Amino acid sequence: MNDDLKRAFSPAKLGKLELKNRILKAATYEGKSPDGVPGELLLDFHKQIVSGGTAMTTIGYCTTEADGRINDQMTWMDEQFRPQYTDLIAELKRTAPGVAVSGQMAHCGNFSKNSKLQRLKRPMGPSRQLNMLGISAGMPFAGAMKIADIDYLVQTYYDAAAFMKSVGFDAIEIHFSHGYGLSQFISPRTNRRTDEYGGSLENRMRLPLRALDAVRRAVGDDFPILGKMGMTDGVKDGLQFEEALEVATMFDKAGIDALICSGGTSSFNPMVYFRGATLDKGMLEVETNPIARLGLKYYGPRLFRYYPYEENFFLDKAKQIRDRVNCQMVYIGGCTELDSVATIMREGFDFIQMGRPLVKDPAYVNNAMSNPNYRNNCSHCNKCASLIEAPGGIRCVENDAVQVQ
Ligand SMILES: Cc1cc2nc3c(=O)[nH]c(=O)nc-3n(C[C@H](O)[C@H](O)[C@H](O)COP(=O)(O)O)c2cc1C
Repeated sequence: MNDDLKRAFSPAKLGKLELKNRILKAATYEGKSPDGVPGELLLDFHKQIVSGGTAMTTIGYCTTEADGRINDQMTWMDEQFRPQYTDLIAELKRTAPGVAVSGQMAHCGNFSKNSKLQRLKRPMGPSRQLNMLGISAGMPFAGAMKIADIDYLVQTYYDAAAFMKSVGFDAIEIHFSHGYGLSQFISPRTNRRTDEYGGSLENRMRLPLRALDAVRRAVGDDFPILGKMGMTDGVKDGLQFEEALEVATMFDKAGIDALICSGGTSSFNPMVYFRGATLDKGMLEVETNPIARLGLKYYGPRLFRYYPYEENFFLDKAKQIRDRVNCQMVYIGGCTELDSVATIMREGFDFIQMGRPLVKDPAYVNNAMSNPNYRNNCSHCNKCASLIEAPGGIRCVENDAVQVQ
């Protein structure tokens, strides 16, 4: 094993948290919490990941309040789930002693088809706009948040962070990207406010930085906070790379422990952050709502424009951010095969997050450590992502074929 791979598979510290290696599971919303309840399905999925040698798994899309959910099956950080989360995290740590568990804090903002809203009448974001995702659920419009709504949202980040620390999470990843709640404020395309939360980048960053501050106050200085940010929205009028460099600097100065640099949006062009085969055909196979089916059939090809896959597809831009900040850097995006792992280590990144490679092979780390010729061979068919809302949630369909043989 060369020195770069040795570095990848050796212990390292994320902030003050000791990790057994530098390979982390990326947040991949699992779709495994029926009615929001984190149970056996979610546990089994993460048990496989932690048993496979990954240093830290991440529970995807932990919404900060019930109305932050994209759909009504998502979980949220609420006292009623305290026993389940406490047991789930304890069981993961029993299964793989020394493993760490992170949770991705998120909020959908104006991008939701959750028709079981509890507090709000309609999804809310920085500015009034069409909520394409909500059309099939009878919620075609999203409202503009008032200052009181913004203050409330910040409080949900504080409460959720305190809850997450108390049930045993070792780290928190704040979702600042992919067109969800906080990134809707950063993006000039979705944020058309004229008050102190809109306009200049400083104003558009006010809410994301307040959320970061609230999480820091809730968990204290020694608890690692990661931030997943966008390097570009990949659409006209959206966040561009030049501003993203400033965004990274602002998070760094505000005391974030590590940055994960992604790009694209779920609302306008999800394939920017996935790359590879488009999602629309797979989603059509599992979608049951007739209006959503119609939308997917006619608008799918436009929304899911094809972006060819290549290994380490965010590397060039992520390196430029690495050169600007003092915080730790977690590389994400197409780091699938061992050559790519070695490249990222050689480039001086501290950690690597893997999404699809670990869905394909949860034992990636153990397998790669015992076999220098290991190949992951994820084909980036992206069927796993199409299954997010299918019964049972995500899985690698390429593994189905292996099991049938
Ligand atoms: C099934 C699936 C679900 C995902 N859900 C999330 C999510 O909840 N939050 C997030 O930030 N990214 C999510 N992503 C994106 C991944 O975290 C990651 O950014 C992307 O897959 C690129 O990394 P990879 O090439 O290692 O898969 C998801 C990806 C997949 C495949």
